[in-house]
Amino acid sequence: MANTEPVNDWATDYDILDPGYINDPVPVWEELRGRCPIAHTDRHEGSFLPTKYADVQAMAKMIPALSSRDPLVMRAPEIIREDARQKKYGANAAPISSDGEEQSWTRRILLPHYTVKAIEAHRPYTVDLCNRLIDGFIEKGSVDAAGEYAQQIPPRLIALKLGVDEERAEEFTYWVRAVLELGLSDPDLRVKYRKVIRDFFHEIVEDRMANPGGDDLVSHFVAARTPEGHPIDPEILVGMCNLQLVAGIDTTWSSIGSAIWHFGTHEEDRRRLAGDPDLFPTAVEESLRFYSPVTMAREVIEDVEYEGVTMSPGDKVIMNFPGANHDPEAFEDADKFIIDRKVNRHIAFGAGIHRCAGSNLARMEMDVALRTWFERIPEFEVTDPASVTWAGGQVRGPRYLPVTF
Ligand code: HEM
Repeated sequence: MANTEPVNDWATDYDILDPGYINDPVPVWEELRGRCPIAHTDRHEGSFLPTKYADVQAMAKMIPALSSRDPLVMRAPEIIREDARQKKYGANAAPISSDGEEQSWTRRILLPHYTVKAIEAHRPYTVDLCNRLIDGFIEKGSVDAAGEYAQQIPPRLIALKLGVDEERAEEFTYWVRAVLELGLSDPDLRVKYRKVIRDFFHEIVEDRMANPGGDDLVSHFVAARTPEGHPIDPEILVGMCNLQLVAGIDTTWSSIGSAIWHFGTHEEDRRRLAGDPDLFPTAVEESLRFYSPVTMAREVIEDVEYEGVTMSPGDKVIMNFPGANHDPEAFEDADKFIIDRKVNRHIAFGAGIHRCAGSNLARMEMDVALRTWFERIPEFEVTDPASVTWAGGQVRGPRYLPVTF
């Protein structure tokens, strides 16, 4: 039975699904850094929560002791059992769920498709997409900027890259939410949609195997070879495709939405950005730091002693990249949004070998989404900040964001 009691002591009983924490986790991180920088909870089957930049960095690099074989913040026993039975830990969503060799060669296959040059080729499509979306609501004078704008962008870019029908964007978004958001407190939903996604990609992988030579990402994955020169196991291929969808949608949608939230609630920053387009690059980085959307996790597979904390096999560690990005030991005025912050070594995209492979795509989408919005709608405000709803846990960002202009 899940413990739904309110939290009394965040150091020993934190709850990453607590609604107050989801709405504004910053005060909790500040308190914990001061008195218990690596907190622990028994909730949600137990985990540790580091809150300092240096600790999150160090823990992200404790490989192999901290494994990525179950990187979701909520333990997924059904999924682990199924993978263990089939002896295919990691095949779930390589490279993010793999350790060791498999992580490095699956990652090497992905990277050429996410270089700055490869991603810039998608800029014109993204500009056109953002303009089409704005055409759809600009006359109304108001919009749900999360649902009708931010959410509409990433699934279409991922569909384009995967060579699947853009019209399925709504479906993709729901599948990913069912796995990463709604499924956190509803394991049956998570298992169901994990299977929906895998079945979908099984079919596409089979099709690309039967019809090789295409120029989409799935065709390239199918044509790639393992370091030994063998075709890639179809289960791993399906996992790699699955990851494109799961890693590329909620994450970027949340970061675009959080940026619009910020500028719709901070008049001075909005005016500055509207008046000086040279600020977009630092504004994007500061949004990523301040509203870092992604939290990951590791599973302890060897005994670890770190900063006086003992972690044992089976324990879970939350990779609190968002909390690290608010650490005053790493950032001057860490809890202030500084639109032209000069030095910004944030780890919103993670740290170490699993650092985000899609960061160039995410940055391009954020840049285009914000620039296009500001060109067409330079004056706007969040209509009723109290009515905004936020998702949290694995990926934090606004899910309903009413804006008036
Ligand atoms: C603002 C948007 C995004 C953020 C904040 C973000 C954040 C992250 C983080 C924190 C990790 C590290 C995971 C870990 O340490 O366990 C990661 C990994 C990854 N991300 Fe992203 N991501 C974003 C967008 C994307 C996009 C658009 C894609 C493209 C499909 C993508 C693909 C990946 C992949 C493939 C990995 C796994 C890399 C590996 O394990 O070697 N991400 N991302």
